[in-house]
Amino acid sequence: MKIIITGGSGFLGSKLTQKLLNSDTKNVIDKIIIMDVIEPFYFSEKIDSRISFVKSDLTELKQIKDILKNNIDTIFHLASVVSADAEENLDKAMKVNVVGILNLLNACRDITTSPKFIFTSSFAAFGGSSMPDNVNDNTKIVPQNTYGMTKVINELIVNDYTRKGYIDGRGARLPTIIIRPGRANKAASSFASGLFREPLSGKKHFLPVNRNTKIAVGGYNDAIQGLIQLSEIDRSLMGDDCTINFPNFGITVSEMINSLYQVTSGMTLGEIIDRPDESIQSICERWPSNVSYERAAKLGINKCSNIKNIITDYIGDYLE
Ligand SMILES: NC(=O)c1ccc[n+]([C@@H]2O[C@H](COP(=O)([O-])OP(=O)(O)OC[C@H]3O[C@@H](n4cnc5c(N)ncnc54)[C@H](O)[C@@H]3O)[C@@H](O)[C@H]2O)c1
Repeated sequence: MKIIITGGSGFLGSKLTQKLLNSDTKNVIDKIIIMDVIEPFYFSEKIDSRISFVKSDLTELKQIKDILKNNIDTIFHLASVVSADAEENLDKAMKVNVVGILNLLNACRDITTSPKFIFTSSFAAFGGSSMPDNVNDNTKIVPQNTYGMTKVINELIVNDYTRKGYIDGRGARLPTIIIRPGRANKAASSFASGLFREPLSGKKHFLPVNRNTKIAVGGYNDAIQGLIQLSEIDRSLMGDDCTINFPNFGITVSEMINSLYQVTSGMTLGEIIDRPDESIQSICERWPSNVSYERAAKLGINKCSNIKNIITDYIGDYLE
């Protein structure tokens, strides 16, 4: 089986690559091609001969068509401009998040097999004054930010290209996934990782939102496992709306901080300092924090670790 992972050098792309290489998926993996504008930190052909990296910008159609000529079975499309960056740079967001996916999908039209196409949407797709307190798979998607708008466009295009038989599309609408290692990215929700990551490394964290702010989160191991499960599910079970809400739970910033202190009692942590940023606060307030995931659960994608286990996993994976 040949797999492409766009955005494979990023947070979830690298975790996904790692998991695919180490796991017994139903099909034997012959090749994983990482397509990204930056080189992956964690992988190279020297580590595993099944990996190859192609430095590629999704906005360049010709290069994508050349790569997809070699029959590809599965594409995980993770490359994206993320939330705060998209809000500041509309043209860049449209180019990468909309033209980028169109390039990939149109390249799929040129090949004879219709590859599985798993992509990541976001809870930022939800929003608007009529959004109910409890959001579910059927809640109307009325995003109030550019990033969410591009994700909604992705969801609709994937439905249509699947209906036409060019791809076998499956979308994961993700909550904020924690805890991102390394450096913060330009996601508005990046504080939800920073408030664990920086104190655990003995550094200060400047918290941009108030401590009552509630957001929907999920752990990276569960999200990656869910993406692989989603790629293996029988097409007939997916229905005509390819995108499903992924497992998550709503939690306030205070609850996150209290859990951090409980899990790490006795450890010296860096300080968390409140430094409100109105633009981050207002983006996060418009996201839903109570989101059910009945469709995913019915498909068997239901692993949802609690906050203490997520913190413990991160300490084991990155700090020990
Ligand atoms: N991490 C989260 O909390 C979260 C939540 C909801 C949805 N998502 C979605 O999941 C996906 C992965 O998120 P992540 O946290 O790993 O993001 P990330 O920023 O760590 O990785 C994204 C990758 O895309 C690459 N990229 C950007 N523009 C590109 C281009 N023009 N061509 C090729 N590659 C390009 C970047 O170099 C980066 O390596 C994204 O689609 C994101 O929108 C993530």
